[in-house]
Amino acid sequence: MTDLRIPPERKAHSAYHPVKIGQLTLPGNLFLAPVAGYSDRAFRSLCISCGANFTFTEMVSSEALTRGSGKTAEIMQRADNEEAYAVQLFGGDPARMREAAMMVVEKTHAECIDINAGCPVPKIIKTGAGSALTRDTDRLYAILSSVILAVAPTPVTVKIRSGWDETHLTWKEAAQAALSAGVSAITLHPRTRAQGYEGNARLELITELTALVHQANPSVSVFASGDLFTPENAKSLLDSSQCDGVMFARGAIGNPFIFTQTKEFLTTGAYSEISVEERMQAGWKELSDLVLDFGEVSACRIMRKRFSAYSRGITGGGALRAAIVSASSVQDYRKIFKSYGFPSD
Ligand SMILES: Cc1cc2nc3c(=O)[nH]c(=O)nc-3n(C[C@H](O)[C@H](O)[C@H](O)COP(=O)(O)O)c2cc1C
Repeated sequence: MTDLRIPPERKAHSAYHPVKIGQLTLPGNLFLAPVAGYSDRAFRSLCISCGANFTFTEMVSSEALTRGSGKTAEIMQRADNEEAYAVQLFGGDPARMREAAMMVVEKTHAECIDINAGCPVPKIIKTGAGSALTRDTDRLYAILSSVILAVAPTPVTVKIRSGWDETHLTWKEAAQAALSAGVSAITLHPRTRAQGYEGNARLELITELTALVHQANPSVSVFASGDLFTPENAKSLLDSSQCDGVMFARGAIGNPFIFTQTKEFLTTGAYSEISVEERMQAGWKELSDLVLDFGEVSACRIMRKRFSAYSRGITGGGALRAAIVSASSVQDYRKIFKSYGFPSD
């Protein structure tokens, strides 16, 4: 049975503190999670300017990368203010993953390679990748050990789920395989593959994983992802589990200020509100950076759902959301925002 007591050398930590991922030392422990369709360069850059201490790209296909697909290069690009970041890879074939990881390091000089062992999408699981790896621990071990060997000294981390379904909770076996392979950090999203993104994340599993990992190897960090929508959520999880860091995913979409507020909350016990103007201006910055990377047409399409997120919970937000579904140029957005009395650049 796992001993849940906190090792004495870790007790003195305040909730906000530096974190090590192998050779890499990060100034704080608030991260942007990999989120497909969102964690592109524009959004990662915005999150860093709001205080994110580390960022993960959305998952990159090892197959597409090694076969030379142009889109993967876009996903992996480093933002100007991104001093350190992780590129996340997915795939089910150890040799292909090894080759892809070497290409990532060569092309991007990413400070960390993260391996996706949590994606619940059937098309991905069918290839032995994503959350299939949380239950196929032999394959997980093979992938991790070959990637680690290939990219050393670049640290390799893994993001797992709690298991396949409620009757197959395999996170412990997956964590043990990852430790044996020599990962520098393990992130747990404590939902099963069957849950997808529904239901509550079982955050108590983070406490168990933290104790297990820190007892086995205190130099391996544990990160948590799941249902972190407020600074209070993050503090409560850091305090109760003693994990080393937390990742915001859906909680950061349309709200990159969650990093600013959480750092403030962890260090002072209070945090400032963000005005509607500040939120919308962040959205405009995201749009202008997306235009640079993807061109105006694609950027404006991508930004519809993102501006919808920025307008959540604000007076007049519903009408704005209804109007922007047809916005297809920056000029369209300007007109719509102006007509509803919101900042228009
Ligand atoms: C739209 C969407 C895309 C995601 N894409 C990825 C991904 O590419 N890689 C990954 O490891 N996790 C991915 N996740 C999972 C998140 O990183 C995170 O673990 C999960 O959403 C739980 O955190 P939350 O409840 O705070 O959102 C994705 C989640 C969502 C909602």
